[in-house]
Amino acid sequence: MMIRKIQEIQSLHYDLLQSADPDHRLVAEYVKRGVCFEVILNEQIVGILVLLPTRPETLEIINIAVSDHYQGQGIGETMIHFALDHAKQNHYKTVEIGTGSTSLGQLYLYQKCGFRMSGIDRDFFVRHYKDEIVENKLILKDMVRLSQDV
Ligand code: ACO
Repeated sequence: MMIRKIQEIQSLHYDLLQSADPDHRLVAEYVKRGVCFEVILNEQIVGILVLLPTRPETLEIINIAVSDHYQGQGIGETMIHFALDHAKQNHYKTVEIGTGSTSLGQLYLYQKCGFRMSGIDRDFFVRHYKDEIVENKLILKDMVRLSQDV
């Protein structure tokens, strides 16, 4: 498995990006400002990671996704550790990640990787997303913010 910087975003990347974030316009905007990495396995693009500097000394994992067939094999966890190492090497102090309050598996994964909850952005998904999102039989409304110092 190899993780490498993406020079040019292609449609295959967009498919993955949208599995983590359905808002095409938001995705297009932050991939321009962030640093994008792809995961290559068996000569295929199987994962994507977008890191975005937000506040001073803070880097956000703004998008992380693994293609359906490759989920549950540890690739997501490896990408998170890659992001934490990247942040440390580039002298960031804090790494943040945000996810839906209904994204139960993702919340488990991020806490397993050392993230702690830092806040709730109530109604984030109501305010920013036109279409209703249902996940784990719940309507998604709130964004959970997590962070860890590196
Ligand atoms: N549901 C249940 N458990 C999960 C989930 C999930 N969605 N994702 C990860 N886990 C658990 C695994 O079971 C595993 O548990 P274990 O260590 O006890 O065995 C552990 O977390 C590690 O899982 P990985 O195999 O490393 O995770 P994976 O390669 O599947 O990648 C990811 C996780 C990126 C969330 C993937 O499921 C995915 O692409 N999902 C769709 C897109 C998405 O939701 N992206 C995140 C949105 S938030 C954001 O982008 C900032």
